[in-house]
Amino acid sequence: MFDVNKVDAIIEKHGAEQRALTAMLQDIQGEYNYLPREALEHLAQKMKLPLIQVYQVARFYRAFSLEPRGKHSITVCLGTACHVRGGVAVADQVGRLLGIKPGETTKDRRFSFDTVNCLGCCALGPVMVVDGQYYGKMAASKVERVLAKYSGEEVATNA
Ligand code: FES
Repeated sequence: MFDVNKVDAIIEKHGAEQRALTAMLQDIQGEYNYLPREALEHLAQKMKLPLIQVYQVARFYRAFSLEPRGKHSITVCLGTACHVRGGVAVADQVGRLLGIKPGETTKDRRFSFDTVNCLGCCALGPVMVVDGQYYGKMAASKVERVLAKYSGEEVATNA
């Protein structure tokens, strides 16, 4: 839930400096796991910035999300090294089990799913990352077991 005091504290922490806008957005996302519209409107008003400018920064960086994110973040690498070793099948299996596409979040907000073009550990490919934990040499057949670690007894789906 949006809390004006939290956003005010973040603005204060950064000295209400316009050049710290990106850092403020990082802190807001850290607080809410995404950038709530109300928080961006309040930030723009307090900083005396056009709302469009705040949104431009928020949209420029891929790390920012304007939509609510899941509790657990899943990333599957589809870079060349991972692609040729079956990364697409891993990504397809994640999407099938969760009922979402890359860039989406499950309705229960348990998982968000994204793909990237390289994670810098190509020798481990195909690579899947969940909440910062790397799973190398992945295969479609291993996906359900990995997801089960993050979802209790069963994999949450949109079905
Ligand atoms: S291509 Fe997947 S980690 Fe580099």
